[in-house]
Amino acid sequence: MIGERLPHEFLFSRAFTDDPYAAYAELRARGPVHPIDFPRGAEAFLVVDHEHGRAALNDPRLSKDTAHSSLPVAAEPYFGGTMLGMDPPGHTRLRGLVAKAFTARRVEALRPRVEEITGELLDGIAARGEADLIDDFAVPLPIQVICELLGVPAADRGRFRRWTAVITAPVLSPEMYDRWREAAGAFNGYLLEVFAERRAHPQDDLVSGLLGARDGDAALSEADLLGTIMLLIIAGHETTVNLIGNAVLALLTTPGQRALLRGRPELLPGAIEEFLRHDGPVERATQRIALEDMEIAGTRIPQGAWVHVSLGAAGRDPAAFDAPDTLDVTRAPHRHLAFGHGIHFCLGAPLARLEARIAIGGLLERFPDLAPAVPPGELERHRNGSIIRGVAALPVRV
Ligand code: HEM
Repeated sequence: MIGERLPHEFLFSRAFTDDPYAAYAELRARGPVHPIDFPRGAEAFLVVDHEHGRAALNDPRLSKDTAHSSLPVAAEPYFGGTMLGMDPPGHTRLRGLVAKAFTARRVEALRPRVEEITGELLDGIAARGEADLIDDFAVPLPIQVICELLGVPAADRGRFRRWTAVITAPVLSPEMYDRWREAAGAFNGYLLEVFAERRAHPQDDLVSGLLGARDGDAALSEADLLGTIMLLIIAGHETTVNLIGNAVLALLTTPGQRALLRGRPELLPGAIEEFLRHDGPVERATQRIALEDMEIAGTRIPQGAWVHVSLGAAGRDPAAFDAPDTLDVTRAPHRHLAFGHGIHFCLGAPLARLEARIAIGGLLERFPDLAPAVPPGELERHRNGSIIRGVAALPVRV
């Protein structure tokens, strides 16, 4: 039973991570908006329904710029320049710079290479007969693709993964902030070296393209560029990995849905949307700050307060989806919010969809006897993440 005000620690607790959807259902039954008890007295609210969540994501009175928070936020030296933390016009400018690389058409051109990488990874797994589908499949595929697209060495992906894990974890103590700064600083230094190398020897990749744009446009700072590349690497790591991981976990634990999808591969695009709705990777990383006193569903939100929209809760709202807790790969139409909504709608959505379709389709076709290498109940024990939702390991036999 959750109390009147949501303790901040609860949202990062094991009990909540194990089953956030039960907690969301309990909260939603009481109303769409709930105050969160945040440390240091910050005012914060959690939106748990689809209608108000969707509206909040696209409300210009809610800013992505933490400088508007009533709580003094430590200046984050390395992420000044990400579009995800900006409002127009800065957001429009930065997003416009990279948007061309992520259109459906440009992304479709990556299909042969994504298929090739998937095929190689599946060959390796077939040869061994068993695998951890996180480390051996869900992680290397999107990382290899984003590294090739940007033009940063995929061989360094071990380092990216370590830095990314620290940078995307919630910062709950001064020690964690020190670790955050250390990882962000190391990542920053690494990218500056890549920039220097690429300025000397431009290639046909996104980093070279952005450096060219920066050097010809005084309005684009080096910090903007660092923030943008770092955001793309981080987004390319922690999100698609967990979409593939959560989808595989769902298929291993619901054999009926797996058989259906194997028999009818044309259902795959819709199934990926269903995996995103049912257990999407970006759960709550959608905070905004009220620029003025306002109301959401009758709850007063003071200027400077934080508003967190739970995309996971929106996906399980019975007012928006019939039988929302049931995974149904034939479900249509889809109005999930797993990629956000409005001007910050996920830029990488076409790429994530392409990768997930090829990965899940390839896995099902190649390994009809795919089975967990541990008792099924134990798979869930590897659940991790609070802001990003995923599984740390998926041991299987093929
Ligand atoms: C923004 C989810 C994959 C790049 C977002 C947002 C969500 C999201 C929810 C909006 C956050 C908000 O409004 O506060 C996801 C999911 C993914 C995924 C579920 C995979 C399944 C990717 C990939 C890339 C990417 C592969 C790039 C390679 C971005 C960028 C933004 C963004 C650049 C910021 C857009 C802006 O501020 O205008 N993503 N993402 N994402 N995503 Fe993704």
